[in-house]
Amino acid sequence: MPGNELIGKEEEVQVADVMKRGVLFRYGFEKRRENIFKTFEFEEKFAQYIGVKYALAVSSGSAAVRVALAALNIGPGDEVITSAFTFIATIEAIVETGAIPVLAEADNSLNLEPKDFERKITDKTKVVIPVHMFGVPAKMDEIMAIARKHNISVIEDTAEACGGSYKDKKLGTIGDIGAFSFDYVKTITTGEGGMVITNEENLYQKSIYYHDHGHDHRPNTSRGKESRKHLGFNYRMGELQAAIGLAQLAKLDYIIEQQRIHKTYLKKEISSVKGIKFREIPDPHGDIGAFLFLYLPNREKKEKFEKALNEAGIETGIFAYWHYFANVEPSAYQGKEVHLEMNGQTENLVNRAVLFPIAIHQSEEELKKIVEGIKKTSSVI
Ligand SMILES: Cc1ncc(COP(=O)(O)O)c(C=O)c1O
Repeated sequence: MPGNELIGKEEEVQVADVMKRGVLFRYGFEKRRENIFKTFEFEEKFAQYIGVKYALAVSSGSAAVRVALAALNIGPGDEVITSAFTFIATIEAIVETGAIPVLAEADNSLNLEPKDFERKITDKTKVVIPVHMFGVPAKMDEIMAIARKHNISVIEDTAEACGGSYKDKKLGTIGDIGAFSFDYVKTITTGEGGMVITNEENLYQKSIYYHDHGHDHRPNTSRGKESRKHLGFNYRMGELQAAIGLAQLAKLDYIIEQQRIHKTYLKKEISSVKGIKFREIPDPHGDIGAFLFLYLPNREKKEKFEKALNEAGIETGIFAYWHYFANVEPSAYQGKEVHLEMNGQTENLVNRAVLFPIAIHQSEEELKKIVEGIKKTSSVI
């Protein structure tokens, strides 16, 4: 997810524009900043790009999920269902609210399996967080139908799939709230940063309160005199991050286009290799092409295959630890309650999968080397 590959002149110009006036804070200082508000501008442009009414920039993708949960009033006594295959931040954000994370299996798409999501619903379930993992949309039609039937809110964790879509709807806009990450390895980056999006004014308003100590941001009122009716914390984005975000957002379509070209080429060239299967893609048109996953028949063959590839100088991605909850030491949870009744399905998929990260700057030669490597190495399967 290589926004960081394209950091260049455009980002420099944007940052210099902020430095010229020296206002690094998103609110206030109107005179000194000559009415230039990079964070507001980034939010506006991001909302326009995604096609959503409201966007709120925050300090990270983790913060985006946390703020989204706060906007939905999630707290102790509630249960939040998410996929067993997600980056650990999704689960941490739930734990931070005092609610209980309930994990459901992933299916061949490596995203939340609708059937297991429904199975895990109890009368305490308030929210489901499907995660569009490694650039690929989750099965949103099925997930939305189940969620609506049971009156459960939906937060789409879109940290890893910025710009992707599902049946022509941009990811993040299908549920009640979308959460994005712009950390250094995401599709577009602001160094650290995130975005909360929604079409509901009420959820937007609550997100604003929560991300800035409950400030009500009254017009023509100095910050020190604003009032506070809601609990909050500090998850604000700064002007420098937003400035970089503006430059990166303008590159997003190009990034996705290049990733898709590379992924399509790889898939086409290795499609006849025996013993490997592709990850299921619920809507191929909406995949941002950031990664290629292959499944091998079993763990033993996968380990042999990957080892041989790595020895041949072909890089594969590491994903089975931080992205798979059961592999993270329970001690990291310090006694917090997490519901982990799993049937082994996700574990089986994770253990058989090999990951190839896709980059913008991969040359034809590098892509060919991956193809040749996979073809040659397939003899060990
Ligand atoms: C699925 C998912 N959710 C949330 C996050 C958290 O984003 P951040 O690193 O910006 O806090 C990440 C980051 O890797 C992620 O992959």
